[in-house]
Amino acid sequence: MITKRLLKYFSLSSLLFLFISSCSPHHPQSTFTNAGPVAQAQSELFYLMFWIAGIIFVVVQGALIFALLNFRRKENPIPGSDFKLPDIPPKQVHGNTKLEILWSIIPLLILVAIMIPTVQVIYETYEPPENSDPLEIVAVGHQWWWEFRYPDEGIVTANELRVPTNRPVKVTLESQDVIHSFWVPQVAGKQDTVPGNTNQMWFQVDKPGNYSGQCAEFCGIAHARMRFRVIAEEEADFNVWLNAMKTPPKTATSDGYGLFLAHCSMCHSIDSYSDGSYEKEITVQDARWADWYDNQEESARVSAPNLTHLGIRTMLAAGEKDMTRENLIAWIKNPSDIKQGTRMQSVANVYKGGAANLKEHEVEAIADYLLSQIPDGWGSIAASTESLEEAEAMVWNTPEEHGEYLFGNQGCSGCHSLNEDEVIVGPSMYGLIDRSASNTEGLSAEEYVYQSITYPNEYIVDGYAANVMPQIFVNLSEEELNALVSYLKTIK
Ligand code: CUA
Repeated sequence: MITKRLLKYFSLSSLLFLFISSCSPHHPQSTFTNAGPVAQAQSELFYLMFWIAGIIFVVVQGALIFALLNFRRKENPIPGSDFKLPDIPPKQVHGNTKLEILWSIIPLLILVAIMIPTVQVIYETYEPPENSDPLEIVAVGHQWWWEFRYPDEGIVTANELRVPTNRPVKVTLESQDVIHSFWVPQVAGKQDTVPGNTNQMWFQVDKPGNYSGQCAEFCGIAHARMRFRVIAEEEADFNVWLNAMKTPPKTATSDGYGLFLAHCSMCHSIDSYSDGSYEKEITVQDARWADWYDNQEESARVSAPNLTHLGIRTMLAAGEKDMTRENLIAWIKNPSDIKQGTRMQSVANVYKGGAANLKEHEVEAIADYLLSQIPDGWGSIAASTESLEEAEAMVWNTPEEHGEYLFGNQGCSGCHSLNEDEVIVGPSMYGLIDRSASNTEGLSAEEYVYQSITYPNEYIVDGYAANVMPQIFVNLSEEELNALVSYLKTIK
C-alpha cells in the first residue's frame, strides 16, 4: 500500500519536473526565450491568455471554495439541539434573465479581448513587414531531413539554415513526401509543410547564434531525429557565407572522390556551387524521388541532402551528431546505428541493408574527401571575421600599412608571393603595378588591380587558370580595397 503510494508520488513528481524543465528559458528549444519579433509577438499573446485564464481560474475556484465553506449543509446547525434542516433544495436561479445575460456577456467580452490581438498576430506573423527586404527561403521537409533553398541566391543546402540577423526571413514551406512541421521554438511558432501545397511564414533573429529547430509533426520512424539548426550571423558574415557557397572547394580530387562518385553521388550532390546548379539540383532531387516512389523495392536512389561544402557544416545526420571525422566515419559505416530508419542504408547498393561494403581505409577516404569540401579561402575568411572587432580597433597611419595588414589577414599571402618570379598558387605580386598598366584596355593600372581583387576572372594572366581565386573579396569595404591596391603598388 505504502509502496504503491510512493510510486504514485514519484511518478507524479517526475512528470511535474519534466513539465517544468521543458519550460525553462535556458532550454535550447524553449519558447520562453524569444530571439526575434515573431517569437516575441507570439509569446506576448501566450502571456496575455495565460494571465486571463489565470485570473478566471482564481475567481471561479475562489467562488467555489467560498460557497463550499459558507453554504454547505450542516448536519447539526444548532449545537446541543436535535434540530435538522428540512430536506428541500436551495433556492434555484434557473431562468433568471439578468444572471443569464450577465454570464453570457462576460465570457463573450473575454473572448473578444483575446480574439483581437490573436487575429492581429496571425496577420503579423504571416507576411514580413511592408517595406522590409526579406530574405526568401524555401524549406522542404523530407523523411527525415530538411532541404533549404535560397532561390534568389541560387544556393541549396541541408539541415543548416544560415540567415542574417535583423532582417526578415520569409519561408515558403513545402514537402516532398508526408506532412512535416517547421519549428524553431526560440524564433517562431510551428508551421506545417504539406505535400502538394505551400505554406508560408516569416521570422527574424535579433542576435547572432545557433537556434535549434525540430520537425514538429509526426512523420515516420525518424521523426524525433529530424532536427535542424538556424545559424544567424551578422549581415557581413552572412554575405561571406553566401559568396563562399558559390566558390569551388580548395581541393579538387582525392581517393575519396572516386569512391564518392561510385557509391554516394546518385543520391547526394556535392558540386552545387556553379551557375545553374540550383535548377539542376531541384530537377535531380525530383527525379530521385520519382524513381524511389515508383519502385521502392529496386530503386538505388532517393532524394538526399545536398553535401556541397560539407566541411563547413556543424552537424551530421540532421542534427543527430556534431560534425567530426570520427562521427562521419561511423555514420558512413553504419548510418542506422546513429539514426534508425534512414533511407541511406535501405536504398544505396553499397549497403544492401547492412553495414557499408567498404574497407576501413575506403570509408576514411570518403570521410576525408567530404570534410575537405570547404570553399576556397574559407579558413582565412573565418579567421578574419573572428578578429573583426580587433581589426576595427586597429589604427593605420597610411593606407599602405592597412593594405599590408589586409594582405596577410585576408589570406592573399597564402597564394601570392612578394618575391620576383616566385609562384605559390597565383602570380607573384612583385612589380605588379608596372606590369598592370597594359593589361586591360580602358583601365588604369590601379583600376585593373582593383578589378582583379573583386572580379578575378575578368582578366586571367597568361599561364594561370580561371576560377582559382575566390570571388569573395567583393565583401571588403571600398576603403579596404583601396588600401590593398595602395599596398600592392609598393611591391617592387
Ligand atoms: Cu518530419 Cu516529423
